[in-house]
Amino acid sequence: MVKAIQINEFGGPEVLQWVEVDVPSPGPGQLLVRHTFSGLNFIDVQVRKGSYPVLPQLPAILGAEASGIVESIGEGVNNFSVGQRVVYASTYPGAYSESRLINADVAVSIPESISDEDAAASFLKGCTAEYLVNRCYPVKSGEVALVHAAAGGVGLFLCQWLKELGVTVIGTVGSDEKKDEILSNGANFAVNYRSESFKELSLDVTEGRGVSVVYDSVGPDVYSDSIDSLRPRGYMVNFGNSSGPLEPIDPVELNVKGSLFFTKPSMRFYQLDRKQLEESSNRLFDVMERKAVRAVIGQKYALSEAHKAHIDVEARRTIGSTLLVC
Ligand SMILES: NC(=O)c1ccc[n+]([C@@H]2O[C@H](COP(=O)([O-])OP(=O)(O)OC[C@H]3O[C@@H](n4cnc5c(N)ncnc54)[C@H](OP(=O)(O)O)[C@@H]3O)[C@@H](O)[C@H]2O)c1
Repeated sequence: MVKAIQINEFGGPEVLQWVEVDVPSPGPGQLLVRHTFSGLNFIDVQVRKGSYPVLPQLPAILGAEASGIVESIGEGVNNFSVGQRVVYASTYPGAYSESRLINADVAVSIPESISDEDAAASFLKGCTAEYLVNRCYPVKSGEVALVHAAAGGVGLFLCQWLKELGVTVIGTVGSDEKKDEILSNGANFAVNYRSESFKELSLDVTEGRGVSVVYDSVGPDVYSDSIDSLRPRGYMVNFGNSSGPLEPIDPVELNVKGSLFFTKPSMRFYQLDRKQLEESSNRLFDVMERKAVRAVIGQKYALSEAHKAHIDVEARRTIGSTLLVC
Protein backbone atom coordinates (compact mmCIF):
# COMPACT_ATOMS: atom_id res chain seq x y z
CA MET A 1 0.00 0.00 0.00
CA VAL A 2 1.10 3.61 -0.64
CA LYS A 3 -0.30 6.98 0.35
CA ALA A 4 -2.02 9.22 -2.20
CA ILE A 5 -4.30 12.23 -2.58
CA GLN A 6 -7.65 11.02 -3.84
CA ILE A 7 -10.97 12.67 -4.59
CA ASN A 8 -14.31 10.90 -4.10
CA GLU A 9 -16.31 13.86 -5.43
CA PHE A 10 -15.68 17.12 -7.30
CA GLY A 11 -15.45 20.33 -5.26
CA GLY A 12 -13.18 22.64 -3.25
CA PRO A 13 -9.76 21.84 -1.76
CA GLU A 14 -11.53 19.94 1.07
CA VAL A 15 -12.34 17.05 -1.30
CA LEU A 16 -8.61 16.17 -1.45
CA GLN A 17 -8.29 13.13 0.81
CA TRP A 18 -5.05 11.54 2.08
CA VAL A 19 -5.67 7.80 1.67
CA GLU A 20 -3.90 4.45 1.32
CA VAL A 21 -4.11 2.78 -2.08
CA ASP A 22 -2.87 -0.45 -3.54
CA VAL A 23 -0.41 -0.31 -6.47
CA PRO A 24 -0.34 -3.55 -8.49
CA SER A 25 2.69 -4.88 -10.40
CA PRO A 26 3.28 -3.24 -13.78
CA GLY A 27 1.45 -4.76 -16.73
CA PRO A 28 2.74 -4.87 -20.33
CA GLY A 29 4.16 -1.48 -21.38
CA GLN A 30 4.06 -0.07 -17.85
CA LEU A 31 6.56 1.19 -15.26
CA LEU A 32 6.14 1.24 -11.50
CA VAL A 33 7.59 4.62 -10.47
CA ARG A 34 8.34 5.63 -6.87
CA HIS A 35 7.77 9.37 -6.93
CA THR A 36 10.17 11.89 -5.42
CA PHE A 37 8.28 15.07 -6.39
CA SER A 38 4.92 15.74 -7.99
CA GLY A 39 4.44 19.00 -9.90
CA LEU A 40 1.26 20.93 -9.15
CA ASN A 41 -0.43 22.41 -12.21
CA PHE A 42 -3.43 24.72 -12.46
CA ILE A 43 -5.19 22.03 -14.45
CA ASP A 44 -5.28 19.93 -11.23
CA VAL A 45 -7.57 22.57 -9.73
CA GLN A 46 -9.84 22.39 -12.76
CA VAL A 47 -9.90 18.58 -12.64
CA ARG A 48 -10.66 18.70 -8.88
CA LYS A 49 -13.61 21.04 -9.54
CA GLY A 50 -14.94 18.79 -12.30
CA SER A 51 -14.51 21.46 -14.96
CA TYR A 52 -11.94 19.48 -16.97
CA PRO A 53 -13.33 16.04 -17.82
CA VAL A 54 -10.28 13.75 -17.81
CA LEU A 55 -11.23 11.37 -14.98
CA PRO A 56 -12.78 8.13 -16.21
CA GLN A 57 -14.47 7.57 -12.84
CA LEU A 58 -14.36 8.48 -9.14
CA PRO A 59 -12.67 7.92 -6.77
CA ALA A 60 -9.52 9.04 -8.56
CA ILE A 61 -6.03 10.25 -7.71
CA LEU A 62 -5.17 13.75 -8.97
CA GLY A 63 -1.93 14.96 -10.53
CA ALA A 64 -0.52 15.20 -14.05
CA GLU A 65 3.25 15.33 -13.53
CA ALA A 66 5.95 13.75 -11.37
CA SER A 67 9.55 12.67 -11.18
CA GLY A 68 10.80 9.50 -9.52
CA ILE A 69 12.68 6.24 -9.71
CA VAL A 70 11.71 3.18 -11.73
CA GLU A 71 11.06 0.35 -9.27
CA SER A 72 9.88 -2.35 -11.65
CA ILE A 73 9.17 -2.78 -15.32
CA GLY A 74 6.35 -4.50 -17.23
CA GLU A 75 6.66 -6.84 -20.15
CA GLY A 76 7.79 -5.35 -23.45
CA VAL A 77 9.47 -2.24 -21.99
CA ASN A 78 13.06 -2.15 -23.26
CA ASN A 79 14.08 1.49 -22.95
CA PHE A 80 14.10 1.83 -19.12
CA SER A 81 15.90 0.05 -16.30
CA VAL A 82 15.22 -0.41 -12.60
CA GLY A 83 16.71 2.48 -10.59
CA GLN A 84 16.57 4.92 -13.49
CA ARG A 85 15.34 8.48 -12.76
CA VAL A 86 12.35 9.46 -14.88
CA VAL A 87 9.87 12.29 -15.29
CA TYR A 88 6.51 12.36 -17.06
CA ALA A 89 3.48 14.53 -17.75
CA SER A 90 0.25 12.80 -18.58
CA THR A 91 -3.33 13.93 -19.09
CA TYR A 92 -4.32 10.73 -17.30
CA PRO A 93 -4.10 11.81 -13.61
CA GLY A 94 -2.51 9.89 -10.74
CA ALA A 95 0.71 11.75 -9.90
CA TYR A 96 -0.34 12.83 -6.36
CA SER A 97 0.86 9.52 -4.91
CA GLU A 98 3.98 8.02 -3.40
CA SER A 99 4.12 5.44 -6.25
CA ARG A 100 2.11 4.65 -9.35
CA LEU A 101 1.96 2.69 -12.58
CA ILE A 102 2.58 4.78 -15.68
CA ASN A 103 2.73 3.89 -19.37
CA ALA A 104 6.41 3.79 -20.31
CA ASP A 105 5.69 5.68 -23.53
CA VAL A 106 5.01 8.94 -21.61
CA ALA A 107 8.11 8.79 -19.38
CA VAL A 108 11.55 10.15 -20.23
CA SER A 109 14.89 9.71 -18.55
CA ILE A 110 16.11 12.71 -16.49
CA PRO A 111 19.57 13.95 -17.58
CA GLU A 112 22.26 13.59 -14.93
CA SER A 113 22.71 17.35 -14.59
CA ILE A 114 19.04 17.96 -13.71
CA SER A 115 17.70 17.13 -10.23
CA ASP A 116 14.43 15.26 -9.61
CA GLU A 117 13.14 18.45 -8.04
CA ASP A 118 13.86 20.61 -11.09
CA ALA A 119 12.52 17.91 -13.42
CA ALA A 120 9.12 17.77 -11.65
CA ALA A 121 9.01 21.57 -11.47
CA SER A 122 9.69 22.00 -15.17
CA PHE A 123 8.50 19.10 -17.31
CA LEU A 124 4.86 19.92 -18.02
CA LYS A 125 5.29 23.68 -17.76
CA GLY A 126 8.56 23.75 -19.71
CA CYS A 127 7.34 21.45 -22.51
CA THR A 128 4.27 23.70 -22.75
CA ALA A 129 6.51 26.75 -23.16
CA GLU A 130 8.58 24.78 -25.70
CA TYR A 131 5.70 24.06 -28.07
CA LEU A 132 4.15 27.52 -27.59
CA VAL A 133 7.25 29.50 -28.59
CA ASN A 134 8.74 27.12 -31.16
CA ARG A 135 5.80 25.45 -32.85
CA CYS A 136 2.42 27.01 -32.01
CA TYR A 137 3.56 30.50 -32.94
CA PRO A 138 7.24 30.24 -33.92
CA VAL A 139 8.27 33.61 -32.58
CA LYS A 140 11.43 35.26 -33.91
CA SER A 141 14.15 37.46 -32.50
CA GLY A 142 13.13 41.13 -32.55
CA GLU A 143 9.39 40.46 -32.19
CA VAL A 144 7.34 41.60 -29.17
CA ALA A 145 5.22 39.10 -27.21
CA LEU A 146 2.61 39.69 -24.52
CA VAL A 147 2.57 36.97 -21.83
CA HIS A 148 -0.32 36.81 -19.35
CA ALA A 149 0.08 35.41 -15.82
CA ALA A 150 3.80 35.79 -16.46
CA ALA A 151 4.82 35.03 -12.84
CA GLY A 152 2.98 31.69 -12.90
CA GLY A 153 4.42 28.25 -13.58
CA VAL A 154 4.19 28.26 -17.38
CA GLY A 155 4.53 32.05 -17.39
CA LEU A 156 8.07 32.13 -16.00
CA PHE A 157 9.19 29.44 -18.46
CA LEU A 158 7.74 31.53 -21.29
CA CYS A 159 9.48 34.73 -20.14
CA GLN A 160 12.88 33.04 -19.95
CA TRP A 161 12.51 31.09 -23.20
CA LEU A 162 11.35 34.16 -25.12
CA LYS A 163 14.30 36.16 -23.82
CA GLU A 164 16.61 33.37 -24.98
CA LEU A 165 15.06 33.70 -28.46
CA GLY A 166 15.68 37.47 -28.52
CA VAL A 167 12.02 38.42 -28.12
CA THR A 168 10.87 41.51 -26.19
CA VAL A 169 8.48 40.35 -23.45
CA ILE A 170 5.63 42.31 -21.88
CA GLY A 171 4.42 40.30 -18.89
CA THR A 172 1.21 40.74 -16.92
CA VAL A 173 0.86 39.91 -13.21
CA GLY A 174 -1.96 40.05 -10.66
CA SER A 175 -0.06 41.96 -7.96
CA ASP A 176 2.78 44.48 -7.77
CA GLU A 177 4.91 42.07 -5.70
CA LYS A 178 5.14 39.71 -8.68
CA LYS A 179 6.62 42.34 -11.01
CA ASP A 180 10.24 41.92 -9.86
CA GLU A 181 10.00 38.15 -10.31
CA ILE A 182 9.20 38.42 -14.01
CA LEU A 183 11.64 41.28 -14.64
CA SER A 184 14.46 39.16 -13.22
CA ASN A 185 13.38 36.16 -15.33
CA GLY A 186 13.33 37.52 -18.85
CA ALA A 187 10.48 40.03 -19.08
CA ASN A 188 11.37 43.52 -20.33
CA PHE A 189 8.15 45.13 -19.05
CA ALA A 190 5.78 44.22 -16.20
CA VAL A 191 2.13 45.30 -15.89
CA ASN A 192 -0.23 44.67 -13.00
CA TYR A 193 -3.31 43.88 -15.09
CA ARG A 194 -5.60 44.45 -12.12
CA SER A 195 -4.66 48.14 -11.97
CA GLU A 196 -2.81 49.05 -15.21
CA SER A 197 -3.54 48.73 -18.93
CA PHE A 198 -1.49 46.09 -20.75
CA LYS A 199 -3.11 47.23 -24.00
CA GLU A 200 -1.74 50.76 -23.60
CA LEU A 201 1.72 49.48 -22.74
CA SER A 202 1.72 47.02 -25.67
CA LEU A 203 0.85 49.81 -28.09
CA ASP A 204 3.44 52.16 -26.52
CA VAL A 205 6.23 49.59 -26.69
CA THR A 206 5.45 48.78 -30.34
CA GLU A 207 4.88 52.45 -31.32
CA GLY A 208 1.25 51.73 -32.10
CA ARG A 209 1.82 48.63 -34.27
CA GLY A 210 0.78 45.99 -31.71
CA VAL A 211 2.49 42.83 -30.49
CA SER A 212 3.10 39.81 -32.72
CA VAL A 213 1.63 37.26 -30.31
CA VAL A 214 -0.29 37.02 -27.05
CA TYR A 215 0.40 33.90 -24.98
CA ASP A 216 -2.72 33.82 -22.83
CA SER A 217 -3.53 31.35 -20.06
CA VAL A 218 -6.05 33.60 -18.32
CA GLY A 219 -9.00 33.72 -20.74
CA PRO A 220 -12.11 35.93 -20.41
CA ASP A 221 -10.63 38.61 -18.10
CA VAL A 222 -8.05 39.59 -20.72
CA TYR A 223 -9.51 38.48 -24.07
CA SER A 224 -10.83 41.77 -25.41
CA ASP A 225 -7.80 43.94 -24.59
CA SER A 226 -5.50 41.17 -25.84
CA ILE A 227 -7.13 41.19 -29.26
CA ASP A 228 -6.72 44.99 -29.28
CA SER A 229 -3.01 44.66 -28.41
CA LEU A 230 -2.16 42.59 -31.52
CA ARG A 231 -0.60 43.78 -34.75
CA PRO A 232 -2.38 42.98 -38.05
CA ARG A 233 -2.17 39.20 -38.67
CA GLY A 234 -1.07 38.73 -35.05
CA TYR A 235 -1.59 35.50 -33.10
CA MET A 236 -3.90 35.10 -30.11
CA VAL A 237 -2.74 31.88 -28.43
CA ASN A 238 -5.23 31.04 -25.68
CA PHE A 239 -3.75 28.01 -23.94
CA GLY A 240 -5.58 28.25 -20.61
CA ASN A 241 -8.64 29.61 -18.81
CA SER A 242 -7.52 30.45 -15.29
CA SER A 243 -10.22 33.16 -15.04
CA GLY A 244 -12.99 30.88 -16.39
CA PRO A 245 -14.26 29.57 -19.74
CA LEU A 246 -14.09 31.83 -22.80
CA GLU A 247 -17.25 32.85 -24.59
CA PRO A 248 -17.48 31.64 -28.22
CA ILE A 249 -15.11 33.59 -30.48
CA ASP A 250 -16.58 35.96 -33.05
CA PRO A 251 -14.78 35.36 -36.38
CA VAL A 252 -15.88 38.74 -37.73
CA GLU A 253 -14.10 40.45 -34.81
CA LEU A 254 -10.90 38.59 -35.73
CA ASN A 255 -11.34 39.82 -39.29
CA VAL A 256 -12.03 43.50 -38.63
CA LYS A 257 -9.38 43.80 -35.91
CA GLY A 258 -6.60 42.82 -38.29
CA SER A 259 -7.06 39.39 -39.94
CA LEU A 260 -6.02 37.91 -36.61
CA PHE A 261 -5.32 34.24 -35.87
CA PHE A 262 -6.88 32.53 -32.84
CA THR A 263 -5.78 29.14 -31.56
CA LYS A 264 -6.59 27.12 -28.43
CA PRO A 265 -3.77 24.61 -28.21
CA SER A 266 -3.17 21.58 -25.96
CA MET A 267 0.21 20.01 -25.31
CA ARG A 268 -1.03 16.55 -26.27
CA PHE A 269 -1.53 17.69 -29.87
CA TYR A 270 2.10 18.86 -29.94
CA GLN A 271 3.33 15.53 -28.53
CA LEU A 272 1.50 13.22 -30.89
CA ASP A 273 4.04 10.41 -30.71
CA ARG A 274 7.19 9.33 -28.91
CA LYS A 275 9.40 11.21 -31.39
CA GLN A 276 7.64 14.52 -30.71
CA LEU A 277 7.73 13.92 -26.93
CA GLU A 278 11.48 13.27 -27.04
CA GLU A 279 12.18 16.24 -29.32
CA SER A 280 10.21 18.55 -27.03
CA SER A 281 11.79 17.27 -23.80
CA ASN A 282 15.28 17.39 -25.36
CA ARG A 283 14.75 21.04 -26.29
CA LEU A 284 13.66 21.73 -22.71
CA PHE A 285 16.60 19.86 -21.18
CA ASP A 286 18.95 21.65 -23.57
CA VAL A 287 17.89 25.17 -22.49
CA MET A 288 18.00 24.06 -18.83
CA GLU A 289 21.47 22.56 -19.15
CA ARG A 290 22.70 25.73 -20.85
CA LYS A 291 21.16 27.69 -17.91
CA ALA A 292 19.13 29.80 -20.33
CA VAL A 293 15.93 28.60 -18.65
CA ARG A 294 15.51 27.36 -15.08
CA ALA A 295 12.71 26.09 -12.91
CA VAL A 296 11.71 28.80 -10.44
CA ILE A 297 10.33 26.82 -7.51
CA GLY A 298 8.22 29.30 -5.57
CA GLN A 299 6.80 26.91 -2.98
CA LYS A 300 6.87 23.30 -1.77
CA TYR A 301 4.33 21.34 0.29
CA ALA A 302 4.26 17.82 1.66
CA LEU A 303 2.13 15.61 -0.59
CA SER A 304 -0.26 15.08 2.35
CA GLU A 305 -0.83 18.88 2.38
CA ALA A 306 -1.88 19.16 -1.26
CA HIS A 307 -5.08 20.92 -0.14
CA LYS A 308 -2.98 23.84 1.16
CA ALA A 309 -1.20 24.10 -2.18
CA HIS A 310 -4.57 24.16 -3.98
CA ILE A 311 -5.84 26.94 -1.68
CA ASP A 312 -2.74 29.03 -2.40
CA VAL A 313 -2.73 28.56 -6.18
CA GLU A 314 -6.43 29.42 -6.44
CA ALA A 315 -5.85 32.52 -4.28
CA ARG A 316 -3.16 33.62 -6.80
CA ARG A 317 -0.54 33.56 -4.04
CA THR A 318 1.96 31.26 -5.79
CA ILE A 319 4.95 32.20 -7.93
CA GLY A 320 6.55 29.95 -10.54
CA SER A 321 6.36 26.19 -10.01
CA THR A 322 4.74 24.49 -7.04
CA LEU A 323 6.01 21.10 -5.84
CA LEU A 324 4.50 18.37 -3.70
CA VAL A 325 7.21 16.43 -1.89
CA CYS A 326 6.33 12.74 -2.13
N1 LIG B 1 -2.86 24.12 -23.16
C1 LIG B 1 -1.82 23.57 -22.59
O1 LIG B 1 -1.08 22.79 -23.23
C2 LIG B 1 -1.49 23.90 -21.16
C3 LIG B 1 -0.42 23.27 -20.52
C4 LIG B 1 -0.10 23.66 -19.22
C5 LIG B 1 -0.87 24.64 -18.58
N2 LIG B 1 -1.93 25.18 -19.23
C6 LIG B 1 -2.73 26.25 -18.60
O2 LIG B 1 -1.84 27.32 -18.36
C7 LIG B 1 -2.27 28.04 -17.21
C8 LIG B 1 -1.10 28.19 -16.27
O3 LIG B 1 -0.82 26.95 -15.64
P1 LIG B 1 0.14 26.87 -14.38
O4 LIG B 1 0.02 25.51 -13.84
O5 LIG B 1 1.46 27.41 -14.76
O6 LIG B 1 -0.59 27.85 -13.34
P2 LIG B 1 -0.09 29.26 -12.78
O7 LIG B 1 0.10 30.21 -13.92
O8 LIG B 1 1.05 29.04 -11.87
O9 LIG B 1 -1.33 29.70 -11.90
C9 LIG B 1 -2.41 30.36 -12.45
C10 LIG B 1 -2.19 31.90 -12.48
O10 LIG B 1 -3.23 32.47 -13.25
C11 LIG B 1 -3.44 33.78 -12.83
N3 LIG B 1 -4.89 34.02 -12.74
C12 LIG B 1 -5.56 34.94 -13.45
N4 LIG B 1 -6.85 34.90 -13.13
C13 LIG B 1 -7.02 33.95 -12.19
C14 LIG B 1 -8.15 33.48 -11.47
N5 LIG B 1 -9.39 33.99 -11.64
N6 LIG B 1 -7.97 32.48 -10.57
C15 LIG B 1 -6.74 31.96 -10.37
N7 LIG B 1 -5.62 32.38 -11.05
C16 LIG B 1 -5.78 33.38 -11.95
C17 LIG B 1 -2.74 33.95 -11.47
O11 LIG B 1 -1.61 34.80 -11.65
P3 LIG B 1 -1.77 36.40 -11.41
O12 LIG B 1 -2.28 36.57 -10.00
O13 LIG B 1 -0.39 36.93 -11.60
O14 LIG B 1 -2.75 36.87 -12.41
C18 LIG B 1 -2.30 32.55 -11.10
O15 LIG B 1 -1.09 32.54 -10.39
C19 LIG B 1 -3.48 27.29 -16.66
O16 LIG B 1 -4.64 27.92 -17.15
C20 LIG B 1 -3.32 25.93 -17.26
O17 LIG B 1 -4.54 25.23 -17.36
C21 LIG B 1 -2.24 24.83 -20.49
